[in-house]
Amino acid sequence: MTAFTLERMDSYREAEDLCPRARVSELRSFRDYLSDGNGKVALELGSGNGTLTRCLQEMGWTVDTIDIAFQAPAGVHRHYIANISEGLGFLPKGAAYDAVVSLAVLHHVADCPRRLPDILASDIAAVTKPGGLVMLQDVPAPGSLPSSRPQPDEGHFGAANTARIFANLVDPYSEPTHNGVYLEMAAIGKQLETNFSPIACFYHRCDWGFPDADVAARYVRSLFHLNMSKADVKAAINPTLQAAKTDLHLPWALDCLVVQRI
Ligand SMILES: C[S@@+](CC[C@H](N)C(=O)[O-])C[C@H]1O[C@@H](n2cnc3c(N)ncnc32)[C@H](O)[C@@H]1O
Repeated sequence: MTAFTLERMDSYREAEDLCPRARVSELRSFRDYLSDGNGKVALELGSGNGTLTRCLQEMGWTVDTIDIAFQAPAGVHRHYIANISEGLGFLPKGAAYDAVVSLAVLHHVADCPRRLPDILASDIAAVTKPGGLVMLQDVPAPGSLPSSRPQPDEGHFGAANTARIFANLVDPYSEPTHNGVYLEMAAIGKQLETNFSPIACFYHRCDWGFPDADVAARYVRSLFHLNMSKADVKAAINPTLQAAKTDLHLPWALDCLVVQRI
């Protein structure tokens, strides 16, 4: 488990300033499943700059957040600075949520692609109300697809493309900010099945939209806190950048698991 450094946190903020709406498409699955949050409370694991937090708030959710390093995003109800790989024992006794969510966090937490830390898995179950949803969305593990799922690599949006982008950009050039372990969400669904019924497990198509190639390179360089030169970043992302009229898109896929508390 590795925490974010201060530099890494700053680089996240720089990326967001540069292109505030770049990550909007990553939130579509949360909008689909959690559209009505009125009167409900969600727990967000690893809130970072608050990209998902804002999306939930816009849909009416009251949000409690946890992060190992980042301070509270604006408007949250409660924020805990804590390490979720050691479980959620720091939450108040009897804490009960209508939803537990995370976006792009678990690859910082897991030691094994097929399991969440057992203490985290059992604590997530303990704090989710019966009927409540758990939505976990993260970078897909390459080569780990059960045959029951649709073919992942549709054009540029599949796991293979995502794995290629991450291999080029994150390893070995970026600061070590995660374990390099990408989760097999279907296996995590199995791990959780004692307490949760499956709802969905799918590749979530997303793409980052940029006004031009220069902003794309600067954005990606900041977000991954890369030591690479801008030209090297361009070389890594250009095979995937899709020109569409005036905008540039970097398409990829995140793996999304949705389960419901029994
Ligand atoms: C890639 S960022 C994603 C942030 C946010 N969810 C988003 O999508 O913008 C990963 C976040 O997880 C947090 N994090 C990493 N390891 C953690 C841990 N063990 N416990 C709690 N938070 C952690 C980091 O501080 C960071 O904010």
